[in-house]
Amino acid sequence: MAINIAIDGPSGAGKSTMARAAAKALGYVYVDTGALYRSVGVHVLRQGLDTANAADVVRALATAQVSLRYAGGEQKVFLGSEDVSEAIRRPEASMAASNVSAVPEVRAFLFDLQKDLARENDCVMDGRDIGTVVLPEADVKIFLTASAEERARRRFEELTEKGNEVDYETILAEIRQRDYNDSNRAIAPLKPAEDSVRVDTTGLSLEEATGLILDVILSKLTNGE
Ligand code: DC
Repeated sequence: MAINIAIDGPSGAGKSTMARAAAKALGYVYVDTGALYRSVGVHVLRQGLDTANAADVVRALATAQVSLRYAGGEQKVFLGSEDVSEAIRRPEASMAASNVSAVPEVRAFLFDLQKDLARENDCVMDGRDIGTVVLPEADVKIFLTASAEERARRRFEELTEKGNEVDYETILAEIRQRDYNDSNRAIAPLKPAEDSVRVDTTGLSLEEATGLILDVILSKLTNGE
């Protein structure tokens, strides 16, 4: 049986950076499920449809060909034959992803893809509902958080470094809006699994937070505690 580690938490808590680092240290595959929702969001936008309109989203879903491929340990996400790994990181893809992720058909569409990956690979999978819905039997479940202000600051720095012109207050407002959307949607809302370990990374460096997460994973895997 493949070993599955679930890492859930709100936008910008550092899930992907830490999950990727943990997967590398363990020699497991890293699965970024947010990238799947982002690619569906980008597909809907490209069809000229409204990501906030469920009927539009369902219509676009019929032609979405989403797949994950791995090159040199890195996850790449494809729409058809196009590598959209960069396009899904643009700011407009974030809200599009949050919008489409509230549509039950989108979640059902991506559920099987995630299940298959977890069945076939020892993996660290990050998202919002991995420990609660996708992999309720995961060997280790972590709920990663940080304050909204800290998450906005990290995101601001990341986007500025990439040359994007962004405003901190706008990012903070968007993070709060996405937290609200993700936590209050009717289907698979963001919430800690009952048997998850909560890790708050506010004020921790990347190295400290990653070390903490690896400790949690290794002690669960070796002692079951
Ligand atoms: O982790 P991220 O910012 O790349 O995720 C983009 C959006 O996708 C986020 O607003 C919520 C949604 N998402 C989800 O609903 N379930 C997941 N397992 C992963 C992401």
